[in-house]
Amino acid sequence: MTRFSSFAAFGLLLVQSLVTASPQPCLNGLCSYTRLNITSQQVSRELGPQLSHGSSIYGPDDPRFANATARYQAYQSPTIKMVVQPASEADIPKIVKYSNANSIAFLTVNRAHGLTATLGKFSGMQIDMGLLRDITIQKGGKTGIFQGGTYDGQVIDYLYDHGYVTTTGSCACVGMLGPGLGGGHGRYQGFYGMISDNIVKLNVVLHDGQAITVSEQSNPDLLWAMKGAGHNFGIVTSFELKIYPRIVDTWYFKNYVWKQDKLETMFSELNKLRARANGTRELAVNYGTYGVNSTISTTEAVIWWSFTYAGPQHEAQQYFDAFDKIPAEYVEDGNIPYKGIPDATGSGVDQPLCAKGFEHVHSTTYLDTWNVTSQRDVFNLFQSKITEQPLVAGSIIMLEDYSTIGVKAVDSKTSAFPWRNRNLLTVTAVNFPPNSSLDAFATEWATQTLDLFNQGSGGLAPSTYVNYAAGNEPIEQMYGGSLQKLRSLKARYDPLGKFNYYNPITPAKHGN
Ligand SMILES: Cc1cc2nc3c(=O)[nH]c(=O)nc-3n(C[C@H](O)[C@H](O)[C@H](O)COP(=O)(O)OP(=O)(O)OC[C@H]3O[C@@H](n4cnc5c(N)ncnc54)[C@H](O)[C@@H]3O)c2cc1C
Ligand SMILES: *[C@@H]1O[C@H](CO)[C@@H](O)[C@H](O)[C@H]1NC(C)=O
Ligand SMILES: *[C@@H]1O[C@H](CO)[C@@H](O)[C@H](O)[C@H]1NC(C)=O
Ligand SMILES: *[C@@H]1O[C@H](CO)[C@@H](O)[C@H](O)[C@H]1NC(C)=O
Ligand SMILES: *[C@@H]1O[C@H](CO)[C@@H](O)[C@H](O)[C@H]1NC(C)=O
Ligand SMILES: *[C@@H]1O[C@H](CO)[C@@H](O)[C@H](O)[C@H]1NC(C)=O
Ligand SMILES: *[C@@H]1O[C@H](CO)[C@@H](O)[C@H](O)[C@H]1NC(C)=O
Repeated sequence: MTRFSSFAAFGLLLVQSLVTASPQPCLNGLCSYTRLNITSQQVSRELGPQLSHGSSIYGPDDPRFANATARYQAYQSPTIKMVVQPASEADIPKIVKYSNANSIAFLTVNRAHGLTATLGKFSGMQIDMGLLRDITIQKGGKTGIFQGGTYDGQVIDYLYDHGYVTTTGSCACVGMLGPGLGGGHGRYQGFYGMISDNIVKLNVVLHDGQAITVSEQSNPDLLWAMKGAGHNFGIVTSFELKIYPRIVDTWYFKNYVWKQDKLETMFSELNKLRARANGTRELAVNYGTYGVNSTISTTEAVIWWSFTYAGPQHEAQQYFDAFDKIPAEYVEDGNIPYKGIPDATGSGVDQPLCAKGFEHVHSTTYLDTWNVTSQRDVFNLFQSKITEQPLVAGSIIMLEDYSTIGVKAVDSKTSAFPWRNRNLLTVTAVNFPPNSSLDAFATEWATQTLDLFNQGSGGLAPSTYVNYAAGNEPIEQMYGGSLQKLRSLKARYDPLGKFNYYNPITPAKHGN
């Protein structure tokens, strides 16, 4: 019955559009008919005059298009037909209303590092947040107002220079909201929780172009939902986030490169460190990779591991003695300002980890502790795969251990983020220059590695950080215990599924 009626409605729409389609432009953008294959020039003529000075609208024939649509993830990426770049937050409701009136699908794009394959289902207009980068520290210095296009490196630098810090992602290249709407793991989470935990207010444009305020006072249910599943509900034009005085000026970092025969010793020491440090917030994060470092070997993968400590070396050293005793191929360290930490630890804006244009076929799960046996299995599989197929030698297994004290201190009922009790994060990224004939090989490897992690997880149910999701995971695994409530909020706030391209909250299957 549902099937029949939606088919009938579609038929009607088609007839209507044939009848009403006319060469006349839709001057107010609020036309009642659908217009297939509308060109960017036409949109520019109709929508352009409605937007603020400095906005632009262009298609593939524009010299800016290639840069504006370049993405980190070349595997299952969205199809962008045109780009609209609003110069003011007030433009966004107009863009959404115009798009709806003209049956144009829209996708919010900030730093274009979205990984999930569900983005590949998109075809339409990119709403590019790149001109909306203002940051305003509020009187009293307790919060800042950040526009929807701000990104981690920018925020770290700006606040640091003004004597503040806040929760951001660790990688300087990614947006604040791409991570933040799904949680947002970063170096200050041990102190203050995740990005989402510090959101006070969101200015949101809903699916129909209505601009609303989302806070404890206004639409609190949506605030709950957007702290963890926010990509599903609207466009955030700006947001208010807690900020904190910059009390720690000097951070200590230490990076090691070890050969694979040190793997067992290293993970045993990491587990001891975890027990001893007990999540201390100063030991902000230690993360590392399995990968090829061509200065050491072009064929044998090595272990790279990086520690960051909120404080100087003389306080941190107690945690490093054990690692200093493991013979390394390479060690570097330094006491530096906090804002220099991304560059010092492989996550700076211009470093290879952030580079656009490669396929990253991946898989991910949270874990509780490092299982030395399964790490060995994962490493050996890594080595055998890059030996078998040298074209994927740029792949990495990324392993992350963030301090969780600040995250666990936040009441889990305050947000939809479901994985507050997890400790460690893994990402398998099979990386290669775009070449679809390698996709099947890469997918098989990513899946095998995920299985190894899950087999070694001590029975922990597989759980997916929504921002690391490959997009093929069951949604129960992404949204966990929040899913049921999220489904009812999704039906209310995004009934037509306009925000369905980033790990969408889909209705329960019949009978569930
Ligand atoms: C190199 C790299 C490093 C990473 N490091 C971290 C990290 O340290 N911590 C962490 O938690 N995650 C990290 N991630 C994962 C990251 O959170 C996601 O990839 C995120 O989607 C990237 O956001 P973006 O703005 O860069 O990408 P985009 O593709 O521009 O945005 C991703 C999605 O976010 C939504 N979105 C973005 N802006 C808005 C807005 N203003 N309003 C509404 N919706 C919006 C849209 O749905 C969009 O599809 C990393 C990813 C990569 C590739
Ligand atoms: C409209 O676009 C569709 C797919 O994008 C294409 O198949 C069709 O030929 C186009 N029609 C016209 C009239 O250009
Ligand atoms: C491409 O876009 C980025 C921002 O995403 C900008 O920093 C860079 O200058 C642009 N490059 C060119 C050649 O326009
Ligand atoms: C570890 O820290 C938690 C609080 O974060 C505390 O409850 C627990 O007692 C600590 N354990 C040890 C062994 O210090
Ligand atoms: C590779 O190893 C060299 C030392 O041999 C080191 O300088 C460099 O930082 C390492 N690169 C990466 C990406 O780990
Ligand atoms: C793409 O991958 C295939 C292997 O599946 C390989 O034979 C081919 O050379 C690759 N193409 C490029 C351009 O590297
Ligand atoms: C560690 O992983 C191995 C291999 O998957 C598994 O057999 C073992 O049970 C795991 N140990 C723990 C404590 O989970």
